[in-house]
Amino acid sequence: MKTILETKELSFSFPSKKEVLREISISVGEGELVLLCGENGSGKSLLLRALKGLLSPIKGTISIEGRDLSRQIKERNRAIGLVFQDAETQMVGQSVERDLRFGLENLKIELNEQNRRVEEVAQLLNLSHLLKERPRSLSGGEQRRVAIGGVLIMEPKILLLDEPFANLDWEGIKQVLASLASLKESGVTIVVATHEIEKIFSLSDSLILLERGEVVAQGSPLALLEVVERYGVRRPTLEEIASWSN
Ligand SMILES: Nc1ncnc2c1ncn2[C@@H]1O[C@H](COP(=O)(O)OP(=O)(O)OP(=O)(O)O)[C@@H](O)[C@H]1O
Ligand SMILES: [Mg+2]
Repeated sequence: MKTILETKELSFSFPSKKEVLREISISVGEGELVLLCGENGSGKSLLLRALKGLLSPIKGTISIEGRDLSRQIKERNRAIGLVFQDAETQMVGQSVERDLRFGLENLKIELNEQNRRVEEVAQLLNLSHLLKERPRSLSGGEQRRVAIGGVLIMEPKILLLDEPFANLDWEGIKQVLASLASLKESGVTIVVATHEIEKIFSLSDSLILLERGEVVAQGSPLALLEVVERYGVRRPTLEEIASWSN
């Protein structure tokens, strides 16, 4: 499989602290869905922010499609879309459609192209019937899908999601899962940071396990299921995993 994203010995520390990301070397294949897990404070969110270019690593490299983009923050920012955990709190538009268009308008993308992308993303995320609604009036799952749509519409090469199931009820989680399944189906490369691995386990191709800012394991999700508990991640039963799949 072709590698789309690769880091080598990426490290980061806050001025006052010891290293919170330590020599992170990971690789993500094109079209893969990768789970990033580890206990609270293990560095999941920081790693996503570093990849996106919101933090500047003090050491190491980040490559996309084989090109070293460690210093090309702008280019990396364009290639990588990040959906924050509370992304829906930042929705400002009067309608779902306005919110989806927001980033495109900022870039002065021409109207025909805007329309094409709105339609495509709405269809992919099952938002077509909600385009005229006010974002604030939507359910949690619907709002989360709009937040994903707002990032996806910028057509990033890689989509990163930070805790996409947080604060959602069962129905909301099911909706977000269905959206992620259809994104994966359409070939989008996805990295999901979560400790609720049972929910998305059956969609995942690879699992990266973090502990105190270090990668302690990376490989087949099923093979690593045995060890997750050692690193503070609850190990789901196979029945639980099955109950979330389909
Ligand atoms: N602004 C900051 N200043 C100093 N330390 C920070 C800052 N942000 C995060 N950290 C520290 O970096 C470490 C990793 O944080 P991070 O948010 O990446 O963890 P996480 O794996 O996403 O955890 P969670 O599961 O709680 O979301 C933690 O020890 C945290 O205290
Ligand atoms: Mg986090």
